[in-house]
Amino acid sequence: MFNANIVAGFAQQQTPFYYYDLGLLKNTLTACNTAAAKYNFHVHFALKANCNKTILALIKDNGLGADCVSGGELIRANETGFDAQKTVFAGVGKSDSEINIALDLDIFCFNVESVQELFVINELAQAKNKTAGIAIRVNPNVDAHTHQYITTGLDENKFGINMWELPAVAEALKACKNLKFLGIHFHIGSQITNMNVFKSLCVKVNEVQNWFEERGMPVKVLNVGGGLGINYHQPDEDAMVDFEAYFKIFNDFLEVKPGKEVHFELGRALVAQCSSLISKVLYVKNGKNKNFVILDAGMSELIRPALYQAYHQIENISQLDKNMNTKYDVVGPVCESSDCFGKEVMLPETQRGNLVAIRSTGAYGEVMISVYNLRPAIGFVFSE
Ligand code: LLP
Repeated sequence: MFNANIVAGFAQQQTPFYYYDLGLLKNTLTACNTAAAKYNFHVHFALKANCNKTILALIKDNGLGADCVSGGELIRANETGFDAQKTVFAGVGKSDSEINIALDLDIFCFNVESVQELFVINELAQAKNKTAGIAIRVNPNVDAHTHQYITTGLDENKFGINMWELPAVAEALKACKNLKFLGIHFHIGSQITNMNVFKSLCVKVNEVQNWFEERGMPVKVLNVGGGLGINYHQPDEDAMVDFEAYFKIFNDFLEVKPGKEVHFELGRALVAQCSSLISKVLYVKNGKNKNFVILDAGMSELIRPALYQAYHQIENISQLDKNMNTKYDVVGPVCESSDCFGKEVMLPETQRGNLVAIRSTGAYGEVMISVYNLRPAIGFVFSE
């Protein structure tokens, strides 16, 4: 929920803004850490979900590692103080300069996404007289049953190395003297709410693990990625995901022999519910068969609805005690018809100047801001 005073006070100076509830974030991190500790699981925060410096500092202080996908994220993780030995680096297109940043930082592990990339990292590590720890990102062809744009583990997706290429990987690893094979990595998609998907993933992880070990290549690290979904429809009732149930699946279904480590890369489940985008109503107007609420925030501030038809709960927080008796399409000011946060949203009768909260925006909200239409910079406010 919101601290109404903080929201109203800040809104007098500036809208739109991202409101962050640090108390909820702390509770979420504690719940995650407690559940993971039960099984000795290692959790990295996927910086791509949120790179806000205040948010990252809190996550780092709670002892999580960092999962990065660019040189920029590696630098941000390092500046925040994340332990390099708890930092992993994935990405289907790592440039030479990004690989060199990771080598200079002595990160724990590169999650490697093609056979060619193995040779490139090897060559760059050799030039620096270093050994790079690597995990092979395998594309397991497991359907995540989520939106097609955030599905990553099917044969048709660009991510990871296909199972049929594993013999070439084993050959390459023999030749690459400046690589240390640590283990295997998977990430099959995001906003996964069907827990059976993770069971199917475990079956594949076991299969790939055995494939390598049968060939005399010990797999120390089992990195199963992230993807745990949240409840966008009930941000207050379901403010925290069930980390216990999630980790238990991996404990029950993964074959983890002594000496092995299980790693996770959670993004959304840790940060999504701790933020709302607060915006002011600029205009209310009638369309042919509908009413529009036009906000001062648009797809430039939160692109998820336009890009993935994503649902975010929308509330008129200036009229919380009023009946929700009017249907509106809630739209932004950007010159695109897809700049719409929700169609036929039930709200109380809404007026110019009302404040609207778009909920569950802590993941893939602020990080995906664009300057399209040369929109002005947005504000941020934090509540304890
Ligand atoms: N690890 C890797 C290799 C990933 O690609 C991702 C997300 C994660 C971990 C974290 O996944 P999470 O736990 O947050 O689901 N912009 C989209 C989501 C893109 C996810 C990209 N990869 C959205 O707004 O829904």
